[in-house]
Amino acid sequence: MATMAAIVECREDAFRKIFKFYKRRIPPPNFSDVFDFSKPMTSDKVVQVKIDPQAVSDGDAARVGLQPVRDWRVFNLKGYPGFIFITNPFLRGSQAYWVRQCLKTYPRKPNVCNLDMHMSPSDTQDIWAKSVCNLSRPDGKREPKTLLERLRWVTLGYHYNWNSKTYSANHYTPFPAELRLLSHQIAAACGFPGFSAEAGILNYYRSDSSLGIHVDESELDHSCPLLSFSFGQSAIFLLGGTQRQDPPTAMYMHSGDLMVMSGQSRLLYHAVPRIVPAPQEVAVVEQSSWGSDQQECVSQEDWAVCSEYIQSSRINVTVRQVLGQSQSFPETPLREEHQAEGEDRSKRRKGVYSPQQT
Ligand code: SIN
Repeated sequence: MATMAAIVECREDAFRKIFKFYKRRIPPPNFSDVFDFSKPMTSDKVVQVKIDPQAVSDGDAARVGLQPVRDWRVFNLKGYPGFIFITNPFLRGSQAYWVRQCLKTYPRKPNVCNLDMHMSPSDTQDIWAKSVCNLSRPDGKREPKTLLERLRWVTLGYHYNWNSKTYSANHYTPFPAELRLLSHQIAAACGFPGFSAEAGILNYYRSDSSLGIHVDESELDHSCPLLSFSFGQSAIFLLGGTQRQDPPTAMYMHSGDLMVMSGQSRLLYHAVPRIVPAPQEVAVVEQSSWGSDQQECVSQEDWAVCSEYIQSSRINVTVRQVLGQSQSFPETPLREEHQAEGEDRSKRRKGVYSPQQT
């Protein structure tokens, strides 16, 4: 007779097995099957492609901190049509600006973050300022964890409702203009010139965090791509299929790397089982005076906080277009919407987007 453990094992889907494999601490997993786009590729599953260098002018790319498109290293993966991986296309030093935005600017009100779930708006108004005060206490008597260290997610634009798994017209604040522009240039370079950044989810990972298996399907128009940016420490990213039975492909996402999930790859299962230290040879985020008229450069003081943070953490930003052209939200009875917002987040349905960071 099969033991209970064996039955559970049999019922487990292929994605979950591989997720658990890479998440395991003792003994550590073998990483030899993980694709590393920053290294010369030997696998015939990986195809380096050229994208139209004229889709974005060098000036427009530089304005958001990107190298000229002709210099980008862009890859497709066989079996995943519409999946695009771009190895760090940022200009030297420009990632520091985006890291500062993710840590200092985007967590500010009116944006929404995990700490709002159990703290008052006045306490979470400026997480950065509160954390910096604590970090630099001369007596060394810091709080055990700063708010910045307790930050797990921030939402931008149409704020994702984790309970109802929806966006709504009633819960919107202006999407940051510079991130909209960065997203626009990347989408245009990848063949989506009409992309409009309407919602963002920032995930903040500590070295022991992971993100559960999910599909990003709450947006109303899936013909629009989903963009993903990573900064700081590296991650193992798993890209699966449309079924949990489809075994996923594992790849590293290093600082500055971009992913575009579009076409048939827009609705695939994916997850982050593990954060791994950034390898020495991969360009880590460094400070510079990068910044243009619109982009305020990163001060020494800000950089001291950002660099300490990313030495042990990873930040991922996903940018989504929620509505198709001339599409609007379906009517939702107001009462239902408020009920959903007030629900306990632990009742989240599994599978769709809910970053079960552990
Ligand atoms: C990631 O952190 O790379 C993935 C984030 C997501 O799937 O939303």
